[in-house]
Amino acid sequence: MSGSPQDGLVKILRSVCGGLPVSDGAIWWSVGDRPLACAAALDDQDPKHLRGTLLPLPVRSRCGERIDPDRPPLRLRLRVDLAGELGFQPRLALFFGVSGDPLERSGQGVILVGDRPGGTRIRWRAADLRQAATLAMLANSAAETLAVRDAARQTSMQAVLALAQAVDAKDHYTHMHSRSVANMAAAVATRLGLSPAEVENTRMAGLLHDVGKIGIPDAILNKPGPLDPAETLQMRQHSAMGDRITKTIDALRYIAPLVRAHHERWDGLGYPDRLKGEAIPLPARIVTVADAFDAMTSDRVYRPGRSIAKAAEELLRERGSQFDPAVVDALVAYIGERLPNGGAASAEQAS
Ligand SMILES: [Fe+2]
Repeated sequence: MSGSPQDGLVKILRSVCGGLPVSDGAIWWSVGDRPLACAAALDDQDPKHLRGTLLPLPVRSRCGERIDPDRPPLRLRLRVDLAGELGFQPRLALFFGVSGDPLERSGQGVILVGDRPGGTRIRWRAADLRQAATLAMLANSAAETLAVRDAARQTSMQAVLALAQAVDAKDHYTHMHSRSVANMAAAVATRLGLSPAEVENTRMAGLLHDVGKIGIPDAILNKPGPLDPAETLQMRQHSAMGDRITKTIDALRYIAPLVRAHHERWDGLGYPDRLKGEAIPLPARIVTVADAFDAMTSDRVYRPGRSIAKAAEELLRERGSQFDPAVVDALVAYIGERLPNGGAASAEQAS
């Protein structure tokens, strides 16, 4: 099982549903205080990731519990309209527990399976229920494997977050820069309609985009003035260096291409690979714009930070040349909404 925890949940869901006479399924799983949820139609390529959390689940539940549509105990326990949220009518609940991962967190989950509105009503036979119980046990085992991998992922993440903080600390004039870029990039990704998993990838890429600066000499990183051509060349190596660093950590391998591409330009004149337009991964294009905005509004030793309105003007000026136009529009709208005098002002002044 590789990829994100969400991918793991989808795999568990698909293997369980594949053994039962159902058309749709959903899975929730909560480990510690981190709930995960997703739903998938069996014939859909792209599973729907549910918003927020529908947990907590009931502590004591029976595997293979049948749901009576006229007396919905599950609905009462979970306090949500499951059919409305899922897009299908749950008919059977398969509960499973995760006994505890290496971080001593326990968890529990439920797989709901059912049929689509207007579809053939499932008639459960005793054999189906026995099969469901077996599948729930397999789900339990798969979820425990997932918990172990998720714990390892989190441990790696903590190490790398420390590294990101070290980069911010090394670059005196960009204190908290990585975190600001991460938050803004995640907000823009959400606004652009990326899935929750993609939003998290974007946030992580924002947090670690400059991790390669750990290998850049302080004299260049904190030089009080413009860099000369040789220094610029050296400084530009940080994106490829960040790619190499993130690639070495299994849990972060998936963001390595984003870190590498955060200085590419929409017009193809960026570095290190001179990627152009949509050949640049969208999360990287988002990080690029958030990075530029945060850099422009931050004070540097050789210049004070620009105002938010001036920085927005600059983004709009580079819209379609340096930056992806759709990303600029989303970011300008986002920061506009956060200004006391409303969003339109900065964008209108600049256009
Ligand atoms: Fe950078």
